[in-house]
Amino acid sequence: MNGVKPRINNKHNSNSINRWSKSLRYPIAMCPDVTNVAIAPCVLVMVGLPARGKTFMAKKLTRYLNWIGINTKEFNVGAYRRDKMGDYKSHEFFRNDNPDAMEKREQCAMTALNDLCNWLDSGGEVGVFDATNTTRERRNKILQLCTNERCYKTFFIESVCDDPTIIESNVKEVKISSPDYKMMDKEKAVEDFQKRINHYEIFYEPLDEEHDRPLSFIKIFNQGEKFVVNRVKGHVQSRAVYYLMNIHVLPRTIYISRHGETEMNLEGRIGGDSNISENGKNFAEKLKEYLERENIENLRVWTSLLKRTKQTVENINAPKEHWKALNEIDAGVCEGMTYEEIATRYPDDFAARDRDKYHYRYPGGESYQDLVARLEPVIMELERQENVLVVCHQAVARCLLAYFMDQDSESLPYVKVPLHTIIKLTPIAYGCLVEHIPLNVNAVDTHREKPRVVSKGRSFDEAIRTVPVHPK
Ligand code: SIN
Repeated sequence: MNGVKPRINNKHNSNSINRWSKSLRYPIAMCPDVTNVAIAPCVLVMVGLPARGKTFMAKKLTRYLNWIGINTKEFNVGAYRRDKMGDYKSHEFFRNDNPDAMEKREQCAMTALNDLCNWLDSGGEVGVFDATNTTRERRNKILQLCTNERCYKTFFIESVCDDPTIIESNVKEVKISSPDYKMMDKEKAVEDFQKRINHYEIFYEPLDEEHDRPLSFIKIFNQGEKFVVNRVKGHVQSRAVYYLMNIHVLPRTIYISRHGETEMNLEGRIGGDSNISENGKNFAEKLKEYLERENIENLRVWTSLLKRTKQTVENINAPKEHWKALNEIDAGVCEGMTYEEIATRYPDDFAARDRDKYHYRYPGGESYQDLVARLEPVIMELERQENVLVVCHQAVARCLLAYFMDQDSESLPYVKVPLHTIIKLTPIAYGCLVEHIPLNVNAVDTHREKPRVVSKGRSFDEAIRTVPVHPK
């Protein structure tokens, strides 16, 4: 998660040999063996006509790769164009018989690509190049710069879409609210955007299974109806392919909630497998009523294997699944202890956790980083599903929310997830609308802020300064 991993410098320009394969018509890089590199930098290149969901995929993939710990950044050429050219005027700028505009567009694309390469050289792991890249000439330039000169792995992601309803909904729901059309009347914006697409269509050269056989790519047809996958190389590309094959764009809502308050929450104890309290039972009832009022179509309910989550959903009338992967973070030797007890018995560990809560692993237990790895299959399955309520635990909910809200690893362990509050996530344009719905049932506060003093040897008072009050 945005943490720069150590990487052996793999800029081998001086001893790489640039040549073009006559038969394959591609620049062939002679890169030295880079097997000693922890993760070879990779460029993911979007391809496709406007309004084919490229930016949606680029942003979502970037968010996912960062969440699983691969330092990823997207570079959107449209944003570079707006930065350089100022306010958008009309589709005329995208005509291919307008050499002045074509030159400017090429400059914007190359500036973005150079920034991407410089970012990879400064420690980034994956750069996502979000542009149309609809011609072979452009794709060859990218290969020349990224694969041949810099020895990055390059993977093309093409979105092909000929279903007019998908294109129309993309234009209406996403494109006309883009900064390009902020000053334009809606109907005019749709008309202008269609003309812009037409300019690209004239010169569009899709990736071709025969011609582009030497390249690594995925072609996605009509947002997941069919896929063609070619020459996947390495971890990042295979993760990207698997992810892209699992996401969908159907409207749906994900609800995330913690279990009802427990007996152990009242005592300020972490972990364990205790029953829900009277307040907790009250919340379970209110949650059931809320779901009945909302009348959510085909709702599925997921819980962990722990009693408190199962008890919370006991009376909800919906299909249920219980996932071990949704169990609370394993606090190892600290299971069942209060923060005050941990500060007394393991003061150095307690301070170490405050210094780096994401990476700190409880002795005999887990870290938040471990938890993200454990939750990856849950995220993948959530991506495949439609309406789901996930009833889980504080640390687990933080990890899931960090994925949807694009939070980095430093802020992830401090995401606020109060008890007795439903967090409703609705996909919008390129992100997710997050609503907190408190059900107004009393509960203890279990959120402990990072204290000011985190050094080894701090006093007990400093260590427990931010521990929330617990009634028992
Ligand atoms: C844009 O300027 O909006 C995109 C340019 C492109 O990738 O063709």
